[in-house]
Amino acid sequence: MIKLDIPKKFYITTPIYYLNGKLHLGHAYTTIVADCFARYYRLLGSDVFFLTGTDEHGLKIQHAALEKNMSIESFLEDIYINVKSLWKELNISYDYFIRTTDKNHIDTVTKIINIMKNKGDIYKGFYEGYYCKSCEAFYTDKDIINNKCPEGHDVFLEKEEAYFFKLNKYQDFLLDFYNKNPSFLKPDKRKNEIINFVKNGLDDLCISRKNVTWGIKLPFDNNFTIYVWLDALFNYVSALGYPDSDNFKKYWPVDFQLMGKEIYRFHTVYWPIFLKSVDLEIPKIEFAHGWWTSEGKKMSKSFGNVVYVQDYIDKYGVDAFRYYVLREISFGEDGSFYKSNFIDRINTDLVANIGNLVSRVTSLAIKRNKEEGFEFYKDEIFVKIVEQKIELIHSLYQSKELTKVVSEIFTLSSIANKYVQDKEPWVLLKENVDEFDKVIYVLLETIRIIAVELSPILTNSWKKILYQLGIDFENKANLKLEFTNICSKKKIIKGNHLFEKIDN
Ligand code: MSP
Repeated sequence: MIKLDIPKKFYITTPIYYLNGKLHLGHAYTTIVADCFARYYRLLGSDVFFLTGTDEHGLKIQHAALEKNMSIESFLEDIYINVKSLWKELNISYDYFIRTTDKNHIDTVTKIINIMKNKGDIYKGFYEGYYCKSCEAFYTDKDIINNKCPEGHDVFLEKEEAYFFKLNKYQDFLLDFYNKNPSFLKPDKRKNEIINFVKNGLDDLCISRKNVTWGIKLPFDNNFTIYVWLDALFNYVSALGYPDSDNFKKYWPVDFQLMGKEIYRFHTVYWPIFLKSVDLEIPKIEFAHGWWTSEGKKMSKSFGNVVYVQDYIDKYGVDAFRYYVLREISFGEDGSFYKSNFIDRINTDLVANIGNLVSRVTSLAIKRNKEEGFEFYKDEIFVKIVEQKIELIHSLYQSKELTKVVSEIFTLSSIANKYVQDKEPWVLLKENVDEFDKVIYVLLETIRIIAVELSPILTNSWKKILYQLGIDFENKANLKLEFTNICSKKKIIKGNHLFEKIDN
C-alpha cells in the first residue's frame, strides 16, 4: 500500500474576493478547487481549517459604491450576503468567512504594521508613478503600454507623499527561501517567472494611500490609509485570531494557498517578505491556477459571454457545475468554458458512466429480491485493480494533480462498467445465482468506493449513491477508501436517476 502523507492539520485558503457585481466562473473556480482539497483532507482525517472571505477596502470598492449611489457599508453588505448564499448553494465547506472590515482584522493589521515600523522596515518618502485601480497595484514606466497596466486596465499617474516598505532589504532572503523550499512555488512552471522577477531587483513598495479614504488608517500617520494588498494579505493571519488564539497556534502556517495566476506575485513576493518582517512562518505552498475564458474569449459583459454560476446551478445542478470545472481544464493551466463541452461531459461522464453504473447494478441487485442483502466476496484480480486506482488517486492528490484525480475516478467507474459487461450478471441471475451474488457484491463495494472518492467533487450525488446502497453516509466508518465488507447485508434501495441527460 502507498504510504499516505496525512497531515495532522491542513490550513487551506482562497483569495478573498473583490466584488462589485454577480459572481462568475472565475471566482467560483478557486473556491470549488479549495473546497475539494479541504473535503479530501477531512476524509483522510486531517484537522482542516478552510478559509475564504471578502476583500472590502480600497479604491475600487470606494468607486463602485459611488457609481451605484449606495453607501459603502450597504454596498458591501449586499455583496457579502450574495457571496455567502452562493457558497452555500455550491456546498462550499469553509470553516470561517472573513471580511476585511471586521474589527478583529482591522486591529490585527494595525498591530502588524506597527511591528513592521518598529523593526525599521517602513520609511516615509515620495511616490511618483502609476496606479491601477482595477489591480489595486502600483506600476512603473516599464510596465505601462499605451497608458494601460500589464492586465490592460487604465492607470493614473500619482504623485504623493507616502510610506514605503523596505522590500529591497529582503531580496536575498527571498531568493534563499525559494531555494530552500522547492515546494513553495507551485506549479513548477511558475517558478522561473517569479525567481527572475526577484532577481531583476525589488523596488521598495509604497504601502500607504493618501486619497483612498476607505481603508485601514495608518496608525502612525492618520492622513493615510494602508495599501489594500497589505491589508488583504493579512486576512490569512487575522482569521485565525493572531497572535494568541488556540486556532492560530494550531493552524499557522498555511499549508496550501490557492489563487489565480494574476495575483501570484503578490502572494509569492510581497507576502513572504511581509511575514518575515513580522517573524511569522511562511506558508508551505502557493499554487497558481490558470485563467478561464468563455467560448474561447475573455469573459466580458460586452461580449455577453460571462459564465454566471447561479444560472448554471439553477439549470443543471451544483454537482454538474462542480464536476465540469474540476474536470475540464488541467489544474494549473488556462482553459475555456464551452457550453457544448459542458453538456457533453454531463451526458458522457455523469449520465452514461457513473449514473449508468449505479442504476444497472442497483436494479440487478433489486431483481434478486434478497431482503437480507449480499454476503462479502472479494474477486482478488478485480479488487487489485480497484486498489491500484485508489493508490493512484491518493498520490495524485498529494502531487496536486486535481484534474487527473477526477479523471481517474471516472476511469474506475468505466472499469466497473466493463466488469458488468464481462460478467453478464443478467445471465448469471438466471443460470448461477451464487456467482451472481459474488459479482454484485464486488460491484456494490466498488461503487461505494467510487462514491466516497467522489465526495469532495459531487457533494450531493455521492450521498444519493450511498443511500441507494443502503449505507449511512453520516457514519465516518462507512467512508473507508479500501475494499471492505461495508456493503454486506445491506438492503438496496431503488433511487431516481442520479443525472438527467441533456439535449444538446
Ligand atoms: N482581492 C484580491 C485577492 C486578495 S487575496 C489576499 C482579488 N480578488 S478577485 O475577486 O479579483 O479575484 C479572486 C480570485 O478569482 C483570484 O484567484 C482570481 O484569479 C480568480 N478569478 C477571477 N476571474 C478569473 C478567471 N476568469 N479565471 C480564473 N480565475 C479568475 O484578486
